[in-house]
Amino acid sequence: MLDFLKKKSTSLLGIDIGSSSVKLLELSKQGDGYKVEHYAVRPLPEGAVVEKNIANLEAVGEEILKLATLTKTGSSHVAVAVPGSAVITKTIEMSADLSDSEMENQIAVEADQYIPYPLDEVAIDFERQQLSAKNEGMVEVLLAACKKENVDMRVDALDIGGFNTEVVDIEAYAIERAFRLLCDQMDLSSAGIVAIMDVGATMTTIYVLRNGVSIYTREQIFGGARLSNSIQSQYGLSSAEAEAAIISGELPPSYEAEVLEPFKQELTEQLSRSLQFFFSSSQYNDVDMIVLAGGAASTKGLASTMQEALSTRTVVANPFAKMNISSKVNKAQLKNDAASLMMACGLALAPRGFING
Ligand SMILES: Nc1ncnc2c1ncn2[C@@H]1O[C@H](COP(=O)(O)OP(=O)(O)OP(=O)(O)O)[C@@H](O)[C@H]1O
Ligand SMILES: [Mg+2]
Repeated sequence: MLDFLKKKSTSLLGIDIGSSSVKLLELSKQGDGYKVEHYAVRPLPEGAVVEKNIANLEAVGEEILKLATLTKTGSSHVAVAVPGSAVITKTIEMSADLSDSEMENQIAVEADQYIPYPLDEVAIDFERQQLSAKNEGMVEVLLAACKKENVDMRVDALDIGGFNTEVVDIEAYAIERAFRLLCDQMDLSSAGIVAIMDVGATMTTIYVLRNGVSIYTREQIFGGARLSNSIQSQYGLSSAEAEAAIISGELPPSYEAEVLEPFKQELTEQLSRSLQFFFSSSQYNDVDMIVLAGGAASTKGLASTMQEALSTRTVVANPFAKMNISSKVNKAQLKNDAASLMMACGLALAPRGFING
């Protein structure tokens, strides 16, 4: 029962299973920095992943298998993430003298007190934290419970691709690690309140970090697919043609005013609204910096539109800004996709005991 947050043994591949694509990233340590060893992305058919749930296991597994064929990485150990919305975490206190296996047994017996789901439907893991400040002889223990289906589907899809799932992380923790890397790569400060907006194809997830530690996450159904859809209907293009046109910018002169500008306005309103949600549920009413991540973060002019509308410093994530890139990696593609690789970066950097990163 206590095995869903598996621990790492060798060098890890980060695999991010999104709604529009699966992405594989391998980093290696180089001096005090990192090098991009392998990167590949494969588009997913529509409906294969819906709102962070795998709906078509075979389709996702097949594309993951293609990632393996494309990259020939040699490593088969993978870190993958489940969304925070699928996980409940809770900190409890237990006697500090207990061994890990005693702790595991006691949690197994008492789990129903802490977890509001039928126990046969959840996977549970725990991690020892610091000693209790209030009660002598007690230690704080972080419990994490995830619906089994969320874990199993990912493990099964990776298995079809020939990969072993070594680490199942929670998205917000992977983003924390990616943000530490980003600060290093882009000379940013992690101090204060930072909102990382991961604008994917169909979902936008906002992660708020305080001094680099995750304090808030919320998902919204909105993303870059809107832009692709407008282009398709406005210019009679297929979905693949529209995606290629978004990246190349080869569209009729009316594109900027008629399609791109309204999309940017709408996206800015959506992102501003998700910040308002955060403010209304917290003691904060301002953020120090916005980091745009996800594929749609590369939308031309988005960062400056956001910065102006929200009067907040806004940057587009480039987690590879100072990294060496292997000659095997397609640099042009990596450049376009850099912002969408925050999750994969955080996963590729997953440490041994996953929970606190
Ligand atoms: N240069 C670009 N400019 C604007 N949008 C882009 C660019 N490159 C990619 N995109 C958009 O990014 C989106 C894909 O982003 P991403 O890969 O982060 O999504 P995902 O993780 O698969 O999806 P989700 O997070 O919704 O599950 C697509 O809508 C695509 O059109
Ligand atoms: Mg995504």
